[in-house]
Amino acid sequence: MSERPKILIVDDIEANLIAMEALLGDLDCETVRAGSGNDALRLLLRHEFAAMLLDVQMPEMDGFEVARLARMNPRSRDVPVIFVTAMLETEENLFLGYESGAVDVLYKPLNAHVLLSKVQVFLELHRSRRKLADEIEAHKRTLADLDAFNYSVSHDLRAPLRPLKAFSEIVLEGHGHKLDDEGRRLLTRIASAADRMDRLIDDLLRLSKVSRARPNAGRVELSTLAREVIAELRSDDPARVVDFVDGTDLSAHGDARLLRIALENLLRNAWKFTVRSSAARIEVGSTTEGAEIVYFVRDNGVGFDPGLRDKLFRPFQRLHASSDFEGTGIGLAIVERVVRHHGGRIWADAATDRGATFFFTLPTARPLGSVAPTST
Ligand SMILES: Nc1ncnc2c1ncn2[C@@H]1O[C@H](COP(=O)(O)OP(=O)(O)OP(=O)(O)O)[C@@H](O)[C@H]1O
Ligand SMILES: [Mg+2]
Repeated sequence: MSERPKILIVDDIEANLIAMEALLGDLDCETVRAGSGNDALRLLLRHEFAAMLLDVQMPEMDGFEVARLARMNPRSRDVPVIFVTAMLETEENLFLGYESGAVDVLYKPLNAHVLLSKVQVFLELHRSRRKLADEIEAHKRTLADLDAFNYSVSHDLRAPLRPLKAFSEIVLEGHGHKLDDEGRRLLTRIASAADRMDRLIDDLLRLSKVSRARPNAGRVELSTLAREVIAELRSDDPARVVDFVDGTDLSAHGDARLLRIALENLLRNAWKFTVRSSAARIEVGSTTEGAEIVYFVRDNGVGFDPGLRDKLFRPFQRLHASSDFEGTGIGLAIVERVVRHHGGRIWADAATDRGATFFFTLPTARPLGSVAPTST
C-alpha cells in the first residue's frame, strides 16, 4: 500500500497550524506539524515530505534560516518550500539560492484557493517523482535478477554438458569401429552440437561477467587498444590483407578492461564482415558533436539492412546466416552493456554491401554506473 504524501507545516503560532491543517484537509495528503524551526529540521530528517509550508517570521530561527539549513542536508535538500509571509518586500530573498524552482510563496492572510492549488502542484510533482523512482528501482531489480538467472543457468548447464561431450568422444574414439557409418555420423553430430552449446554457454557467461564487473575508471588510450586488437587479428589470420586506419589520440575515460572487450568485439566484427571485400579497410576514429565526443569503428564490408539496426544489440540477434559468417550473436550485446555502464550510447549505421559504422559515446563527467551485485 502506498502511503499518502506528507506536507510539513511550520509555524510558531498554533492557531495558524490548525487553520492550515483544516484547509489542507481537502487534499489527499497527510499533514505534519512543527512549532519551531528546530522541530521542522528534526522532522525533515525523519520523514519524506512532498513539500513544506514554512512561516517566515518565527522567533529563534526564522523561515529563511530553516530553509537554508534544510538545503544543506542531503536528506532534506530537495523538499520544495512554500514560504508563508506577511512581508511583501522580502520576495527577492525568498528565491535566493533556489535554482530548482522548488520554491514558492504565499502571503498572509492566506487565500484558501491559492494555498490548495500551490500545494496540489507539489503533491503532483512528488507523486510522479515517486512513481518514476519506483519504476527505476523495479527495473534495476529485474535486470539484476535476469543477470543472476543468466549466470546460474549458464553455470548449471555446463554440468550435464561435460559428460555428454566427453562420452560421445570416448565412444567415437574407443568404440567407433563397432558402429557403421551412419552411427558414427550421428555420434559426430551429437559431439559437435555439444561443442556448439558449450560455446553458447561461454558467450552467455561472458555477457553476464560484463554486467557483474566492477568498473574501474581511468584514462584509456582507445587507439592503443585498437592497434593491439588489430595486431592480434592479423597474427591469427596472416593471410588477410586489411588496411587499418586509426585516429590519433583517441583517449577516453573509462574502464580499460571493459573498453578493450568492447573494442575487440567491434573490431572482430569489422574483420569478419570484410572477409569478402577486395580492399578491406577498418577505421577507428572520433568526431565531436557539440560537447560530445563520438567514437566510431567503420568498415567497408558486407554491411546490413539499416532497417534492422535496432535488433543488433540484443543477445543472439544475427542479421547474417551462420553458414555465411560464424558467430553466436552475443558480441554487440556485450559492447552495448559496456557502453551503457559508462553512461554512454551506441548506435549503428550501415547499408547492404556498403559497410557498417558503429558509433558510441563515453561521457567523461559522469561516474561509471555501479553494478548490482548478484549472487550465484
Ligand atoms: N561490422 C559489421 N558489418 C555487418 N554486419 C554486422 C557487423 N557487426 C555486426 N553485424 C551484424 O550484427 C550481428 C550481431 O553481431 P554480434 O557481434 O552480436 O554477433 P556475431 O558477430 O554474429 O557473433 P559473436 O560476436 O557472438 O561471435 C551479426 O551477426 C551481423 O549480422
Ligand atoms: Mg561479433
